[in-house]
Amino acid sequence: MRCVSAPQQTAASPFIRACRREPVPHTPVWFMRQAGRSLPEYLKLREGVAMLDSCTRPDMAAEITLQPVRRHRVDAAVYFSDIVVPLMAIGIDLDIKPGVGPVIADPIRTRADLARLRPLEPDDVGYVTEAVGLLTAELGSTPLIGFAGAPFTLASYLIEGGPSRNHERTKALMYGEPELWRELVDRLADITTAFLKVQIEAGAGAVQLFDSWAGALAPADYRRYVMPASVKVFDAVKDYGVPRIHFGVGTGELLGLMGEAGADVVGVDWRVPLDEAGRRVGPGKALQGNLDPAVLFAPTAAVEEKTREVLATAPETGHIFNLGHGVLPTTDPDALTRLVDFVHRTTEV
Ligand code: CP3
Repeated sequence: MRCVSAPQQTAASPFIRACRREPVPHTPVWFMRQAGRSLPEYLKLREGVAMLDSCTRPDMAAEITLQPVRRHRVDAAVYFSDIVVPLMAIGIDLDIKPGVGPVIADPIRTRADLARLRPLEPDDVGYVTEAVGLLTAELGSTPLIGFAGAPFTLASYLIEGGPSRNHERTKALMYGEPELWRELVDRLADITTAFLKVQIEAGAGAVQLFDSWAGALAPADYRRYVMPASVKVFDAVKDYGVPRIHFGVGTGELLGLMGEAGADVVGVDWRVPLDEAGRRVGPGKALQGNLDPAVLFAPTAAVEEKTREVLATAPETGHIFNLGHGVLPTTDPDALTRLVDFVHRTTEV
């Protein structure tokens, strides 16, 4: 392991303490997809710049990461990038289409295609090292969360060629060519690990693995075909000692296995109350979540009532408040600012 260049002084921050299930002065809050999306200052900065180009410009990526921290006073920043950035960095021809998501020019479907998934070297993503370095200097005691896509979710984009409702080609390959599938997710685990290591070594104080589409799988298939690759990622970054968060959508039936995969914190969507999620995840893990992002479109009084419900089911220690999935693009930014303030005031000790 290379030495960590600029460790953030964040151990005392409420976010890091909650990840470690230590007592906190107030419940920490951040939002998945808080960077970018609807903020007017983001839309202005991004005018005329393609999404993936903005990810390769350290100044721009750093500024976008900081915007929601300044505006909402969230307890953690999330690095502005995308789960497909490491794939782009190894030469996969892809684009992010506005309103659609990642689109892959030549999907990966055969053994011969595997050769295109070469290992990721830190030099492939020098702009990430630079942006994270700028950010950790600027953020002070506010932790920066690095992230990557989990092998299953990345495999789905690569095989389908873009977003998919049913993941039919992905499952066809998984069930029909299990050896090829295993090699594919193993290569993706190594790429994901390398991308997380770059972010940690540049100073990120925590990491989140997004397995957004894992909820499409039954538990037995998740355990057999997907979990080993995610376990490999969590094991590979364990020794850095930074909190590791594991998140997926529609994963109520997978929460136990996602806990078992090795993260310190398990993210929960809005379909399972946190107390029940805690029983499924098992002891020793912090929980992150889980207000339905659509609730933010309701009047403030209703948002506060639904937030109180989330807080009432949360564990006494080891809760990071978040939405059950990312901020929806048309969310009123002021509703997010009010929500941060409400959670802080309500949980202050
Ligand atoms: O908080 C943040 O926004 C940090 C950066 C971030 C982005 N993508 C930037 C982005 C993060 C954490 C992601 C993760 C991501 N990307 C996931 C996992 C999280 C989840 O939502 O489940 C997934 C599945 C992707 C793939 C992806 N990229 C999708 C589905 C989309 C949305 C397409 C759309 O326009 O609705 C993207 C594009 C994307 N990633 C945008 C941003 C800010 C919007 C692009 C734009 O502004 O043109």
